[in-house]
Amino acid sequence: MGARRTLLLLHGTGGSAQNLVPLGKSLDPTAALLSPEGKVLENGMRRYFRRHAEGVFDIEDLHARTEDLASFIKAACSKYSLPSEEVIAVGYSNGANIGSSVLLSFPSLLKGAVLLRPMVPFQPTHPVDLSQKAVLLCVGSHDAITGTADPIRLRQLYEDSGASVTVHVHQGGHELAHDDVEAARTWLQLQSSAGEDFFTL
Ligand code: MLT
Repeated sequence: MGARRTLLLLHGTGGSAQNLVPLGKSLDPTAALLSPEGKVLENGMRRYFRRHAEGVFDIEDLHARTEDLASFIKAACSKYSLPSEEVIAVGYSNGANIGSSVLLSFPSLLKGAVLLRPMVPFQPTHPVDLSQKAVLLCVGSHDAITGTADPIRLRQLYEDSGASVTVHVHQGGHELAHDDVEAARTWLQLQSSAGEDFFTL
């Protein structure tokens, strides 16, 4: 039997394709894992899109790279025969930001997203319908990179788009912690059991 669902793993700045594989396996051992590597190099560190400064994104590049990632998702689902309606992004930091950008720009490609230490990638200029999507935001109460205002804006953006939003607040900074992983695992389990209930009705 093929994998039930696919986790699209998106690493943070300076990460690699291997980075989040252990996390993906621990979140859902039965899921297929897609782990594309960021193609932008910033002082030798891999990222998914360019930025002018910390937290100041090159929006043109972000949109272009978001399209590239969208094409990758479509091609990978087709190549590996993965159910295209069962792809969930799991992104950390820069990976959370591009994952969010894909969800906002190409909602049909993702069922939802686990966004670990996210920021608002861009402000959509038209309403986005995410009423069938679910999002987990794992934010740090003292995250010096995202600040506190940005995750609050992101939550608002997703709620305004109709997504089902869950927020986990880690009492700490930008680094990922055990409680984030637990929150992500629990949230993912809830997503799959919600689907099972639907099919057994
Ligand atoms: C970003 O550039 O996407 C965010 O500032 C997070 C980071 O990668 O440092």
